[in-house]
Amino acid sequence: MTRINDDYAKLRAGYLFPEIGRRVREFSAAHPDAKVIRLGIGDVTEPLVPSIVAAMHAAVEEMAVRETFRGYGPEQGYDFLVDAIRANDYASRGVALDNDEIFVSDGSKCDVGNVQEIFAKDARILVTDPVYPVYVDSNVMAGRTGAADEVGRFAGVTYLAATAQNGFVPAPPDDSVGPIDVAYLCSPSNPTGAVATKAQLAAWVAWARRTGATIVFDAAYEAYIRDPELPRSIYEIEGAKECAIEVRSFSKRAGFTGVRCAFMVVPKALMGKNAAGEPVSLNALWARRHTTKFNGTSYVIQRAAAAVYTPAGQAETGAQIDFYLDNARILREGLVAAGFTVYGGVHAPYLWLETPGRQSSWDFFDRLLREAHLVGTPGAGFGPSGEGYFRLSAYNSRANVVEAVARIARTFR
Ligand code: MLT
Repeated sequence: MTRINDDYAKLRAGYLFPEIGRRVREFSAAHPDAKVIRLGIGDVTEPLVPSIVAAMHAAVEEMAVRETFRGYGPEQGYDFLVDAIRANDYASRGVALDNDEIFVSDGSKCDVGNVQEIFAKDARILVTDPVYPVYVDSNVMAGRTGAADEVGRFAGVTYLAATAQNGFVPAPPDDSVGPIDVAYLCSPSNPTGAVATKAQLAAWVAWARRTGATIVFDAAYEAYIRDPELPRSIYEIEGAKECAIEVRSFSKRAGFTGVRCAFMVVPKALMGKNAAGEPVSLNALWARRHTTKFNGTSYVIQRAAAAVYTPAGQAETGAQIDFYLDNARILREGLVAAGFTVYGGVHAPYLWLETPGRQSSWDFFDRLLREAHLVGTPGAGFGPSGEGYFRLSAYNSRANVVEAVARIARTFR
């Protein structure tokens, strides 16, 4: 028989969200009349806005006519989209990028999962904890870790605890952790909703430049930042182009979780080193990887993404984000009124709450499902420091969010 990748065996149960889905299906099968409200996986609920739909229709019409039909496109993305990204997301905030530093893709999960391929097979990884599970799991699959201990901490990975004490934004480590090759940061954070300030990011950039680490900065939720003082890109910090890759997504910004479009920025100033210690461009490595394993995001979808940057697209998607932020506010106020200690949910679609009496997060998951027919995400699923916490997502209809708050009030009064 064919030998398999034994590193997969180090992964504990299934991926977090399928496991939640399994428990919910089991509950619903046993209680077919229960109206379950899902505030678990951060999946958008509102339909695509009109300007995006119109752009998709127009692109489909182009594909239906010989003269405007398109086959393979440029793997890195069409210039019409890359130009729009460069001008609107970066130049507008004082960040100058070239088009060949932006790589359009079909999703940030793929990008953050795939980017580790360009680093050494024994690259040392740092994550904040709790964290989006893909950062760790993709490195486990690649064989960069040892086994997990009983709380799910993988040997060989450096975990920095994100706690209420540090506002869920850990400072960079001191040198006692040993050399680090790749550090994953996420702001606004999935799962805690915490947002790093410019000073906090500047400390990370200074650390990375001093130690030679590369930061993978996941900014999938940047559109939820409403405070102009908070950085939306790591490149707003001087020197970040020399030490950071940035990941961005249209999923939560424009309702693309089922449409699929994202991009990753790999600056040309960013260098790694080869086994001989010579500098190598990470942009060139990623371009090689991207063009070898990816044939580009579909033309229709890239037209849809470009529509996000039109004046109508900005207004319509901005209003949609306001809607989700309002959901977050309603949830937060309801949870606080029910006596919960709640974090996040201000510049982020996620609320991070302490479980009552610091109950185990999976026990709280089961209780909430059983007693209130509500689905959230157990904090432990995001890492050992998530134990005793629980994530609720603001992605749902207003009616369901209001109903969820009423059920929380009834269950925890
Ligand atoms: C989440 O709920 O954490 C996200 O939806 C996961 C993702 O974006 O892949």
